[in-house]
Amino acid sequence: MKQLVSFLIPALLLMACGSRERISKDVFDQVNKSMEAKKLSDAQIIQEAMIWGDSISTEAQQLLMQNLHTKVNENGYAEALEFCNINAVPIIEELANTYGISIRRTSTRARNQANLPTADEVPLLEAYQYNVENNIKNESNIQAIAEGDVLLYTKAIVISSEFCLACHGVPTKDLEVDVLSKIDSLYPEDSARDFGLGDLRGIWSLEIPKKAVVNRL
Ligand code: HEC
Repeated sequence: MKQLVSFLIPALLLMACGSRERISKDVFDQVNKSMEAKKLSDAQIIQEAMIWGDSISTEAQQLLMQNLHTKVNENGYAEALEFCNINAVPIIEELANTYGISIRRTSTRARNQANLPTADEVPLLEAYQYNVENNIKNESNIQAIAEGDVLLYTKAIVISSEFCLACHGVPTKDLEVDVLSKIDSLYPEDSARDFGLGDLRGIWSLEIPKKAVVNRL
């Protein structure tokens, strides 16, 4: 298994450094011009996308958690579930619009089936999962997608506390009966349960146009 890790990490790094990029002509010319004017290298752009991605995903996480904690304190977990059902995606989308990028949370074991991973996200989720299972620290990652026009920033989301288990833990042990029946009625295809502390719950996935990063530098 050791070989797999040493293969996976360089493979991710290589992709992150743009070896897979096949940039479409127009955008290539456009981005290249601004890069040249500003004397920017690919490495600087990836570094800036990483800083920006870290900051936005942290802000998004805090925003969701603030709202969720308030709702749980006001009306308990079952009511807070309804709040998440209606508001989680719009809260994230509003933030995405503010920054002009796309933001989502994705998981192979999703509650909301709209959060299932895309083909670009599946191998990343597998790599993050592998690291969690083998006690390797998960770092955020950047990949070039859409022929190099877009940088895909991802970051692990881990079950960090008992708070998460109240809605994502083991039925009847962690999940109260009223919470479980609310989940079953709102999400008949739910597979975001049976998690334990420290498990990978999913990832933040941000599509950041390369142009937007160049504009920030
Ligand atoms: C009050 C119940 C509740 C609590 C507490 C809660 N979640 Fe969730 N979680 C939900 C619901 C409901 C959804 C589906 C939201 C939607 O419809 O988009 C969800 C979705 C998610 C998703 C998106 C992927 C998916 O399964 O659709 C992630 C990631 C996630 N939760 C992580 C966490 C983490 C980490 C914690 C603890 C810090 C946590 N949640 C605490 C109810 C909860």
